[in-house]
Formats: sequence, structure tokens, C-alpha cells
Amino acid sequence: METTETAGRTTSRRSFVLGGLALGAGTIGVGRLLADASPAFASGGLTPGDAAILRFLAAAEILETDLWQQYNELGGIQDSEVPGGSGSPAYTAALQVLDSDMDQYIHDNTEDEFTHFTFINAYLASKGADTVNLDRFRTLPSSQATGAQQIGRLTNLMQLTVDTSWWARYRSRTKNPDFGDTFPQAVPGLSSGQFPGIPRSDADLKPKNHLQAIANTAGFHFAFIEQGGTSLYPSLSQRVTHPEVLRILLSIGPTETMHFQTWQDKAGNAPPLTDPTNGLVFPDLNAPPFGGEDFQTNLIMPEPTIFLRRTFPVCSIIRPTETDGAAMGAAKALTANGLFIGQPPAFFAVLQDLAQAADAA
Ligand SMILES: [Fe+2]
Ligand SMILES: [Fe+2]
Repeated sequence: METTETAGRTTSRRSFVLGGLALGAGTIGVGRLLADASPAFASGGLTPGDAAILRFLAAAEILETDLWQQYNELGGIQDSEVPGGSGSPAYTAALQVLDSDMDQYIHDNTEDEFTHFTFINAYLASKGADTVNLDRFRTLPSSQATGAQQIGRLTNLMQLTVDTSWWARYRSRTKNPDFGDTFPQAVPGLSSGQFPGIPRSDADLKPKNHLQAIANTAGFHFAFIEQGGTSLYPSLSQRVTHPEVLRILLSIGPTETMHFQTWQDKAGNAPPLTDPTNGLVFPDLNAPPFGGEDFQTNLIMPEPTIFLRRTFPVCSIIRPTETDGAAMGAAKALTANGLFIGQPPAFFAVLQDLAQAADAA
């Protein structure tokens, strides 16, 4: 009985929101109703801070979607759920060296990102708040490799500098980035210089170890992106005020963690090699000078570490989760990743404004 009642309430609330979305004139009435009921919440039920946090997350998800779409066009599964592109068989096969299901996982991660920004923007709109649209910045070139759509992009996957310190960060039992600790790189070469995560053209499809290095780069990049979301949602959730906004952050955030957990397992299967065209080295993470607790590839469950205070017992946790400056930290990490190389100053100004507003919440 109780379940039925709860389900009934959920259904009626959902149609209420949809009604507000569908009926332009009705939205004003809905907004006024909520504002009267709870004067603390401006603009139809959202505080400016909650709206700013949701807008920054919508922007991050739009950017994530753009990069995942490019991976899916060449190395995923192109279908009605994630349309666009026609696949690069050679690149797809190189990715499948990391796991035979890589194309399926890329497809599913891409679809998730589409739903994240679409939902957050729809929720903002339902509350009469401004939504996020970055279409004017879709100007970066597509890969020229066979299989990619030729459309303007928001992100650049062809000059990546991938910070691979997340690898040791989740394996360390004594350090936590929220205490100012730093971590060694799993693939030192990837963290300096610029490398493609997708074939830039069909010329990148050979020699074999060059293409495999591109697929390995993608493998480590996937986990880099998703560990970012894994920290961003808990970091920002500490500053939202409305229980429903908190519910959104607490419900999306862990899906980023599900992605990350898969990707860090797959990255560990990237074969050790040296790219003959540029000298990029993927080391054997199970052998000296790597190996051990900090690098062994099957240690994919988070190790316990220090949390909040050093005097507390260690705890297995997401890290970092510090909330101060979390949005700007994410924006800086994505920028340092090389994703926005080629974007004009106006793009960075918009990203910074969105991040500053979220951090001021
Ligand atoms: Fe996402
Ligand atoms: Fe994600």
C-alpha cells in the first residue's frame, strides 16, 4: 500500500513538471506557486546557487558528450541510440585489445553522457532557470579518418596531455589529494607532450604499435575523464540546498564512478609498448620500476586512505571530494588535458564564468 502511494506521488509530481515544461503560460503559474510556497527559492524553486551548480554540470556533461561522441563514431557502436559516424575497424580492433567489449562500453558511456546534460538542462528549464547551450563553440575540426562525421566539435581529442596520476591516487593507502598529496604518473609520457586519442586520419592506422598507442591513450583518457566526474559530483553536492537537486547530483555522480571503475580495469590491459613514430612509452605496470601496491594492474578496488583527519582510521573513499573550488578545478583539469586546444578566448571566458558561479554557490 505504501509503495503504491509513493509511486502515485512520484507520478503526479512528474506530470506536474512535464506540464510546466510543455505549457509556456503554465510555467509562470507553476513558478509563482512554488515561489509563494517557499520564498527562499527564487526563479521557480531553485536558489541561484543550485542553478549555477546545475549549469556548470550541464556544461561539463555537454563537453563530455562531445568527446565521447567522437570516440563512439570511430571506436564504438554506431546505432539509433548513439547515431553518428560509421566506425574505424582498425581503431576499433586496437581498442578491443584492452577488452573485447570496448565498443559496447564506449557506446554505453556516450549514451549516458547525452542523458546527463539533456536531463539537467530539462530540469533547469522546468524551474524557469537558464539552461546551457555551447553550440556556438562547435567549431573544432573532426578527425579526417574514415568513419568520423565531418562536423564542428567542442573538444579536441588529437592533442591530449593525459594526467595519469589517478592510477596511483586510488591505490595509495597513505595519501589523499585533499591533504595536498601528489601522486606519480602511471604513464609518464602521456602526462607531458601531446598525443592523439583517436586516429587523426587514416595515416594513423599504421604502423601497428602507433595505432595501439592511440588506443592505449584513449584507454587511459577514458578513465581520466570519468574519475573527474566521480569527484566532481560529490564535491559540488556539499553545496546544493534543495533536496531534489541533491538527489540529482547523488544519482548522476555514481554513474560516473561506474564508468571510471570499468575504465581503470580496461586501462590496465593496455599492452606495454613504444610508439615508433613519437617515442611514447606505455610501461609494464606490473614490473619494476612500477608494480607493487601503487601500480599493480588488478588492484582496481579503491584502497582505504586518510580522510578528513589523519587521526581517524583510514577509509575507502572517493578522492578528492573537497568542495572549495571544485568546479574551477574541473575546468582547469579539462583545459590542461588539451581538450580545448583551438577554442577562442570567448569559450574559456564562458567556462570560467560557469565554474566561478558554481564555486560561489
Ligand atoms: Fe556524465
Ligand atoms: Fe562521464
